[in-house]
Amino acid sequence: MIQCPRGTRDFLPDEMEKRRFYENRLRHVALTFGFREVETPIFEDAELFILRSGPNVLKELYAFKDKGDRDIALRPEMTAPAVRMFVNGMSNDPKPIKIFYFGQCFRYERPQSGRYREFFQFGAEIIGSANPEYKNGARPETDAEAIAMAASMIKAFGLKEYRIRIGHIGVLRQRIADAGVPADRAAEVLQKLDKKLYEEARPLMEEMGVSAAEIDGIFDLTETVGGPEVLDKVPGEVGDYLRKVVSFLEAMGVETPEIDLGVVRGLDYYTGMVFEAEAPALGAEKQICGGGSYTLSELFGGEKVFSTGFAVGFDRILLAAEKEGQEYVPRGIDAYVLSVTDDMRLKAAEIAAMLRREGISADVDIAGRKMAKALKYASAVRARYAVIVGAKEMEAGAATLRDMGSGEQKTVEVGDLPREIRQAQ
Ligand code: HAM
Repeated sequence: MIQCPRGTRDFLPDEMEKRRFYENRLRHVALTFGFREVETPIFEDAELFILRSGPNVLKELYAFKDKGDRDIALRPEMTAPAVRMFVNGMSNDPKPIKIFYFGQCFRYERPQSGRYREFFQFGAEIIGSANPEYKNGARPETDAEAIAMAASMIKAFGLKEYRIRIGHIGVLRQRIADAGVPADRAAEVLQKLDKKLYEEARPLMEEMGVSAAEIDGIFDLTETVGGPEVLDKVPGEVGDYLRKVVSFLEAMGVETPEIDLGVVRGLDYYTGMVFEAEAPALGAEKQICGGGSYTLSELFGGEKVFSTGFAVGFDRILLAAEKEGQEYVPRGIDAYVLSVTDDMRLKAAEIAAMLRREGISADVDIAGRKMAKALKYASAVRARYAVIVGAKEMEAGAATLRDMGSGEQKTVEVGDLPREIRQAQ
């Protein structure tokens, strides 16, 4: 038997219905925040990701040569494609550009619970909210907007236990530069710090000539987590900046996130505020969302604009809700039409067509089953009603409407079926 490739999954109807339900909830949140949806190709020129996304993504890339000898990669994330799309076709539009996307990403990772090779992200980018007022070009309102939307999305899943942590990549970048880590090797060090791999980060920095005391200081910094009081430990401008982000969040009624100077992020394009959300119910792969402010457009041939974005790991947040005991009851279809005798088959087809024209999801027995078996099939496809077409009722222009949940039956005129079925929705 051929199985789906390692790290990928099939989604059967009940699962798919649940996924669509939550996807639409997220879409609703994004729309209420004034974002508009976009879609980019699933594969891109490999260069798009190699240019900036860092060595981590490179070794995780699904890359191949196409028949025209082009280097192609399946997208491992959607920020670079979104910014490429902005540079190609939206750079003259009024800024900031607020877009969101939903789709699958591919990373050649070792699969485990919550970590797949094909997974889905729901993400958003605010591109081009440039402001010279701040040294790194970002605006606290922009960053707060992104964090507030991420928080609303997590709420839309009804998660009870989660943490949102915000930090600023500038603090750590500055600190490791001051300690003597060369600029072109900063990504390597940050990569290790992101995963809290201190055992590997230490020899790496020692090799770069960083003193033991400095290394300890850097490790301390990445472990600095707490309430807003942590901001007192953040030097000058960055501390003020994050304080402003927190005030905007307060104004929007968003619970103050934890301040965590150890938020590093695995991708290499961040320049300012960075944030992550985690759901402890998930265990090892508990990060459900990540983002921050960055610049990428100049790398793809556009003007340099400052942006902020994030992506929710759709599969993980679903898993977290499930682990917290949340249940989703699939809706299935509205009606299943079946005929009592073969001479009623045309009538049944006619009634199913009428219901469909009325916007009711209706299936009809096309397998020539006897009534008892057809009813069994109707419950298997989760039909809420069965419309039983019998010759006797039909003489009066009616059919039997059976509530599949309670088993109750009544005779309903064919013309009234849509209203009766809709009433119970
Ligand atoms: P990321 O942190 O690499 O950020 O991915 C975002 C989320 O995708 C993670 O928090 C995680 O929930 C989920 N995720 C990542 N890898 C996997 C996997 N193998 N299986 C299941 N879920 C996974 C980004 O991708 C950035 N583009 C986010 C961003 C947008 N930053 C700015 N704008």
